[in-house]
Amino acid sequence: MEKREQWGSRLGFIFAAAGSAIGLGNIWRFPTRVGENGGGAFVLIYLLIMFAIGIPVMISEFVVGRKGQKNIVGSFTSIKKTPLWYGVGFMGVLSGFLILSFYSVIAGWGVSYIFKFITGTFSGNVDTESIFVGLITNPTQPLFWHLVFMAMTTFIVLKGIGDGIEKYSKLLMPTLLGLLVLLAIRALTLDGAWEGVIWYLKPDFSEIKADTILASLGQVFFSLSLGMGAMITYGSYLSKKEDIPGNAVLISLADLLIAVLAGFIIIPAVFAFGLEPGAGAGLVFMTLPAVFGAMPFGNFFGFLFFVLLTIAALTSAISLLEVVVAYFIDEVKWDRKKAALIVGTIIFLMGIPVSLSQGGITIANIDFLDLFDKITSLVFLPLGGLMTVIFVGWVWGGKNALEEIRQEGVKFELGNAWLFLIKYVLPIVLLYILISGLFL
Ligand code: PHE
Repeated sequence: MEKREQWGSRLGFIFAAAGSAIGLGNIWRFPTRVGENGGGAFVLIYLLIMFAIGIPVMISEFVVGRKGQKNIVGSFTSIKKTPLWYGVGFMGVLSGFLILSFYSVIAGWGVSYIFKFITGTFSGNVDTESIFVGLITNPTQPLFWHLVFMAMTTFIVLKGIGDGIEKYSKLLMPTLLGLLVLLAIRALTLDGAWEGVIWYLKPDFSEIKADTILASLGQVFFSLSLGMGAMITYGSYLSKKEDIPGNAVLISLADLLIAVLAGFIIIPAVFAFGLEPGAGAGLVFMTLPAVFGAMPFGNFFGFLFFVLLTIAALTSAISLLEVVVAYFIDEVKWDRKKAALIVGTIIFLMGIPVSLSQGGITIANIDFLDLFDKITSLVFLPLGGLMTVIFVGWVWGGKNALEEIRQEGVKFELGNAWLFLIKYVLPIVLLYILISGLFL
């Protein structure tokens, strides 16, 4: 059998895994959630949940992948070969198809904005809302940009681990950080920016309610790429000498740092121009372009911002595609090129109804973007995470997992605390989240 590819270096792995984590979730979802849910108080809760739930789940995913040395399905079934665990793995593969098919459509909007800033679409006093709505409801234009984005994603995955994912992550992630810092400096030096900083980070504990906690749990899962096998797949390319817990902490902190930094760009800029920090897509695609349109050299900074958004989305998209491609390579025995091209094409095709439904061209009034997003974030990801911790704690056995982690001098002093969490605490908490997400 051919030897499995491995990451070329620790740094390469960290860039790739952080690249998976850092994406659209950080750049647009995190900042608005913070502002609307009690500012600094939300950040504190997020941090707590990240350490108590996110990092333990990430460790579990890495260790399953490194032990199994295969894609999500193969990793589960190489440890416990039953239809149940094949099914759990397959749910992750399915999540990859579903998430990427809408993620790429949104990322495609971002790519098109790069060109809108190059051509100066937003200069002067234009109606940014009608430009955005015009774009996403157009039947063909967003499909073109979705195709461009999927082509880039497929190209990188096709090149494999070392020459593809690792190489491009090492190039793209430092670029991303540089752009973020530059844009944050620009935003924070605008007149009136500090009011935004205060709105963004002022801790207001009265805003913390039960659904705030649920919202931050969902955000932790999506943002850390958990529950669908991305970290299992990336863990399968890890060498035995890597310190899994240490890397998981580092990757999660990097993810948080970028999310907070993104807020330091978006929120102060919006405040400085007297606009309202609304939610999600509206903020990034309508409010921000208005800000850039009114700023000196706004076209240049707008252009940089959407390059940044595209890079962040791209390194996440390659991890989503890699989950599915690795499945077809290991389990169906396709070669990488065939797997990447076929899967990339299918996901492009799945994105067509997603995009068309934004303009009302749809079946039975379904908004496929909303549907795919809800199925995955409310059901598949929390269920995947729940099954993963049950698998590690009870099926494979926590002791065996600890043994896999503690090799070649890796200590993991908090090993027993981790075991306790994934065996007794997380199954209950995750089950609770799943049920309340479905019925509340
Ligand atoms: N973590 C990515 C983001 O924040 C999204 C993602 C989810 C990527 C699941 C891979 C797997 O945008």
